Amino acid sequence: MLPKDLVERCKKRMEPYNCEGFVHGRGPGDPLIMVVGEAPGETEIHNGMPFSGRAGKVLDEFFEYLGVSREEIYFTSTVRSRPFKIVHKEGQGGEIIQKKYNRAPNMKEQLAHAPIVDYEIRHIKPKQIVTLGNIGLQRLLGRKYTISEVHGKLIHAPVRRLKDMDTNEWTLTDREYAIFPTFHPASIFYNRSLLEKIHRDLDELKKHLKGDKGP
Ligand code: URA
Repeated sequence: MLPKDLVERCKKRMEPYNCEGFVHGRGPGDPLIMVVGEAPGETEIHNGMPFSGRAGKVLDEFFEYLGVSREEIYFTSTVRSRPFKIVHKEGQGGEIIQKKYNRAPNMKEQLAHAPIVDYEIRHIKPKQIVTLGNIGLQRLLGRKYTISEVHGKLIHAPVRRLKDMDTNEWTLTDREYAIFPTFHPASIFYNRSLLEKIHRDLDELKKHLKGDKGP
């Protein structure tokens, strides 16, 4: 569980931005895998459970394919509130209605909540991190990495952490972590052909996990 004052400080840091709600990470203290996603969506904000919406259902299928159960995974995300944009639409009677849509968290929002993932990584010391999409990948490894280039490849490296809350500068952890990037499950809603690539990534991840899980 995150310290209350850390959560309060991070919520305050997020106040200037169009983000709503707050979802805590979830999972065991000694997980087989830590999953680092992007940000919760409407469903997650509503019920407080990470990856419980449409993308979460796809993610469950990935882990079933991998032979790993939810109980073995710690779920977290780069940002813990739902970033949204407001779109005005014309209703059937010609009236203007406002709708909230999910959007990717921008860098200021990522920095606002950076201390949370930093805390989780420091305390959980995950044996294997799986990042989903570019946001999770770049949160940990920086912008020189792109998901299309490094998905399915195990990377041993220190990860980015916030140097301090006042300067908002990134620095690196002292120790290295095993990071395995793959695509975000929601990506297949827009590009179905990624599913095949994700399965090949998971085949690769399975080989690495064998060492951790035993035969
Ligand atoms: N995407 C994420 O990164 N986290 C969620 O909880 C849902 C979708």
